[in-house]
Amino acid sequence: MIDLHSHILPGIDDGARSLDIALEMAKQAVDCGVSHMVCTPHIHRGYFDNTLSSIAETFHHFQHHVGEASIPLSLSFAAEVRVNELIPVWYKQNALPFLGSYNDKQVLLLEMPHSHVPQGLEALIKWLLRNNVQPLIAHPERNRELLAEQHKFSWLQRQGCLFQVTAGALTGRFGDKVNDFALSLMEKRAFHVVASDTHDLERRPNDMKAAFDVVQKYDVNFAQDVFITNPSEIVNGTSTKHE
Ligand SMILES: [Fe+2]
Repeated sequence: MIDLHSHILPGIDDGARSLDIALEMAKQAVDCGVSHMVCTPHIHRGYFDNTLSSIAETFHHFQHHVGEASIPLSLSFAAEVRVNELIPVWYKQNALPFLGSYNDKQVLLLEMPHSHVPQGLEALIKWLLRNNVQPLIAHPERNRELLAEQHKFSWLQRQGCLFQVTAGALTGRFGDKVNDFALSLMEKRAFHVVASDTHDLERRPNDMKAAFDVVQKYDVNFAQDVFITNPSEIVNGTSTKHE
């Protein structure tokens, strides 16, 4: 499996707190059947002011240690970018980290606030698509406005977004409401990728194997698409892969 969303890089966001924990998280991912992981720390202005170059530096250090420890996990990096008005500026400065590409568009893992769908999102999505950037919306199933008004998910679909559902949402880690929403999206085949969004070993561990079992029981082909085929197309379709 390919895991497109993880907070495994140590010490630069609310994910892994140390190199030792990050290495254990890498082993946990391998135990789940993950062969490639994209390290996607937050870029969230005022909270986690990571940049393409600061992430690259931490990534290369971590990748070296994963190799030293002989953990059979290949790695690349991007970021989970919180919606904000500077995204077009960062794009023009070549400062936006991309997961890879999909249908000849560079893929941006875009995070909304957890409480609501932010104003200006429609304009941002249109701007990104016009500039050949494909927004992949992180964990829509955990957004409280979408949970309360699920027709707004269809609106986001019509805008041309792709969606990443978090593995733990499919296994019930985030409660019944989120679980029901995630399962209803699965029944509609309404998302493109499942990823762990792992932050640590216990509270937010790698749930990819358990989630794969849930989706596989429902539809083997869809499980193949969202855990393997689609994410691997995104990661391999890039000309900016950081390996
Ligand atoms: Fe995340």
